[in-house]
Amino acid sequence: MPERWLRIGFSVGALLFADLAQGSAQTADETVTGGSARDGRAIFLNICHTCHSSQPGVNRIGPSLYGVVGRKAASLPDYPYSDVMRNSGFVWTPQQIFTYIANPQQVLPGVKMHYAGLTRASDRRDVIAYLETLHQP
Ligand code: HEC
Repeated sequence: MPERWLRIGFSVGALLFADLAQGSAQTADETVTGGSARDGRAIFLNICHTCHSSQPGVNRIGPSLYGVVGRKAASLPDYPYSDVMRNSGFVWTPQQIFTYIANPQQVLPGVKMHYAGLTRASDRRDVIAYLETLHQP
């Protein structure tokens, strides 16, 4: 029954197309706000926590990320930042963090954060929502 196969083939094709269209919409979604702090905490613990603490005054391989949102880059007095980070002129707005953690080495070549980057925009949004909770009450 070739006609039936044709119809099945068509539906599969339509599904694949819908998938592709949705995929490209997702990668194009560069919205920074509206992430889930709860999911972001899990991502932070899995990835960032290897090098960063969420506690004030606790530096690990990387500087403490307590209060990082809104902070000037390289501004903790007791952490030995690279010159690249010191000279970046960055302020850690949600947008700046969003761009930076996608690909640290590309944004700041020579930065000593040896982490490839968080490619999924939704993961970056979630981590930022979590970082925004790390401040004085
Ligand atoms: C392999 C270790 C490592 C991992 C994993 C890592 N970082 Fe870093 N991070 C560093 C180091 C080291 C620096 C200091 C870079 C420098 O001075 O060149 C840094 C710096 C930063 C800064 C700048 C802070 C400041 O005080 O200026 C931010 C923001 C940051 N990291 C966010 C993150 C986030 C968010 C994650 C998780 C998605 C993450 N990092 C994962 C090691 C890491």
